[in-house]
Amino acid sequence: QVPSITLNNGVAMPQLGFGVWQVPDDEATAVVSAALAAGYRSVDTASAYRNETGTGRALARSGVPRDELFVTTKLWNTDQGYDATLRAFDVSLERLGLDRVDLYLVHWPIPSAGLYVDTYRALERILADGRARAIGVSNFLPEHLERLLEETGVVPAVNQIELHPQLQQAAARAFHERHGITTEAWSPLGQGRGLLEVPTVVAIAHKHGRTPAQVVLRWHLQLGVVAIPKSANPRRIEENIDLFGFTLDDEDLTALAALDEGRRLGPDPASFSGF
Ligand code: A2P
Repeated sequence: QVPSITLNNGVAMPQLGFGVWQVPDDEATAVVSAALAAGYRSVDTASAYRNETGTGRALARSGVPRDELFVTTKLWNTDQGYDATLRAFDVSLERLGLDRVDLYLVHWPIPSAGLYVDTYRALERILADGRARAIGVSNFLPEHLERLLEETGVVPAVNQIELHPQLQQAAARAFHERHGITTEAWSPLGQGRGLLEVPTVVAIAHKHGRTPAQVVLRWHLQLGVVAIPKSANPRRIEENIDLFGFTLDDEDLTALAALDEGRRLGPDPASFSGF
């Protein structure tokens, strides 16, 4: 039911995934199990979320064949550097209970540390070893991507960035498109804060007999990006994947385009050190 996007190395990635940021490890098993039962097949975690163990347990218990799952995790900032990255990746695999992931991402560039090129080279090693089916980055600005394109051999498959109707990221998306990098949206619902109460969004939801969250997620799908909404609530988990019975029209898309404020909810990747 969920369409896939073909990454630049031919790997298929579901366009809608389930995010588990801020889900405690002891709740992650139940929450991810609910997502898998609702039909999600892509799960996005990270070493920094401290819930790889609970997430992995849900994957194992689900009975969903491994080749139908798409599992993403991320390398945390304090583990940057070639050797440290290889060690951290082993720990993530161990926690997930997997022998490979589908996508491994560098979580933040941390330009002040000067390590992201070496770090990415370790991801290239992991890819060559078949322990990740695709590699990429998160929160990289075009200037950081430029360095990877110049100094490394594998074009990132994905850049996962903050993206929602109030931060539409047109310049980053255009850069990614020029270089064959898939854009993935984190906090696609604007963290469930004000965005879902914006009158434009509410009005479009009424028009289609849908919820504001469904309108926003449908906007992501029609924009052509990958979105990974997070919810800990079983009803909203189901709501957020029930997106395939309606389409936003040109009038809706024009109204939503006007919501762009270019304002981040999360940190600025140029200065965030996250240590
Ligand atoms: P909850 O976990 O209680 O459902 P984002 O993915 O943009 O970071 O947004 C996640 C936040 O949005 C969470 O606080 C989540 O709360 C809330 N949320 C997720 N889905 C919905 C929905 N369908 N309607 C309203 N709020 C939602």
